[in-house]
Amino acid sequence: MNSQTLREARKYEEASEKMVTKEERPDFHLSARTGWMNDPNGFSYYGGKYHMFYQYYPYDTVWGPMHWGHAVSEDLLHWEFLPAALAPDEWYDRDGCFSGSAIELPDGRHLLMYTSVLQERLANGGVRDIQQQCLAVGDGVDYEKYEKNPVLTSDDLPEGCSRTDFRDPKVWRKSDGTYCCVTGNRPADGSGQILLFTSPDGFDWKFSKVLAANRDRYGKMWECPDFFELDGKGVLLTSPQDMLPQGFEYHNGNGTLCLIGTYDEATDTFTEQYNQAIDYGIDFYAPQTVVTPDGRRVMIGWLQNWDTCSFRTSHPKWFGQMSLPRELSVRDGRLYQRPLQELDAMRRNKVEYRDVTVTDTMSLDGISGRRVDIELTIRPEEEQLYQKFAIRFAQDEQYHTSLSFRPAESILKIDRKFSGSRRAIIHQRRCLVRGNREELRMRIILDRFSVEVFINDGEQVMSAVLNTEQSADGISFFANGRVKMDIVKYDL
Ligand code: FRU
Repeated sequence: MNSQTLREARKYEEASEKMVTKEERPDFHLSARTGWMNDPNGFSYYGGKYHMFYQYYPYDTVWGPMHWGHAVSEDLLHWEFLPAALAPDEWYDRDGCFSGSAIELPDGRHLLMYTSVLQERLANGGVRDIQQQCLAVGDGVDYEKYEKNPVLTSDDLPEGCSRTDFRDPKVWRKSDGTYCCVTGNRPADGSGQILLFTSPDGFDWKFSKVLAANRDRYGKMWECPDFFELDGKGVLLTSPQDMLPQGFEYHNGNGTLCLIGTYDEATDTFTEQYNQAIDYGIDFYAPQTVVTPDGRRVMIGWLQNWDTCSFRTSHPKWFGQMSLPRELSVRDGRLYQRPLQELDAMRRNKVEYRDVTVTDTMSLDGISGRRVDIELTIRPEEEQLYQKFAIRFAQDEQYHTSLSFRPAESILKIDRKFSGSRRAIIHQRRCLVRGNREELRMRIILDRFSVEVFINDGEQVMSAVLNTEQSADGISFFANGRVKMDIVKYDL
């Protein structure tokens, strides 16, 4: 039986969604049905479709008591909204249904695992969260909260583990049919750690071990973990709060971290070897992965940064969108991301130029648009390196956003200062491009309100939200020095 709270949310979202036209949303990125969206939740393949749930406050375009929004898709690019799946309607989650994940049970039911939030009053008048892990079981549309919730509480945690910062379970099934989940937590040192829990059936959970400990190296609290094996490696994704920059890594405050190492399934031991940011742009957080029926590990993140949520239009009808789905692989200790292969089927109107010499500002016939897929390769025309190359997009007389590359420093910069923002917040990020500076390859994908740049076959990625008016659809190029450029552009 759906609660009154959930019924109201479903009624409200159905009516409010009608106020947003198709053109007012991204085309192939999932955005909030109405109100506010943050983290991807319960990303899974179930009943022949991909399911994406999300942190959701339907009633306003700011964060509020968390519900789970819900959408389904056959190709991860065209989404259909379903009614909200969870609302904060039980004694243990009355202050929010926080992030979590989903899995199909052997009997065909869909199991959601999420963090329930209950606020307790403190003697000093303040409040503090109690975060516990809960379950809901459903058929892909309606979900019933489990009668034995919460299934993991602070009683299950070893000494010193925070009961206030204990959240975001990501569940998977092991090859022996038993279940594991990882959550974020804070140990006594106040930084982050990832806890591993096991279950024989997905319902009865117990603490197993600390899978990874931050020890104050990468930010503080680690949120939204995901853990999986890929290309023979163990991969841990997490989103640390309060990061300090290290060289050109981790500039985002609320950032992303990928740890790559070895994983021994028999003993559940993860040994770290490599670390990197998942995304080097401005807006990317809390990614979650799914395995496609044909075996690809696909990741989607929240295309947003907590620190730049004031970057918005004056009266938005929705706030929050997801990133493009990205196929992951691990090569030489690095995480690679490629735009989902299904995107190729959306490409139309190919325009191609080879060996264009760029020496100043120029544009090219047929190269413009706000829903485009661009493959760009640049190299020096002569032995002497050029000083700077830039591509500007979402451009008219007043506005533009740019990507500029300085080969001597190997730095690619994204700058949305002139995208129409009236807020003096961070609008730039720099990425130290790895490898060969003689040739830079970029795949740039625009979808009305975003740009995502896949550098050198996805070795690094930069993502950012764009709020520029859609009429600003120009694209131009600039060089200081002599640059040879190949470009292929498709409309999407
Ligand atoms: C990350 C996060 C999660 C939490 C959720 C609440 O963005 O803080 O840790 O579950 O958002 O909306």
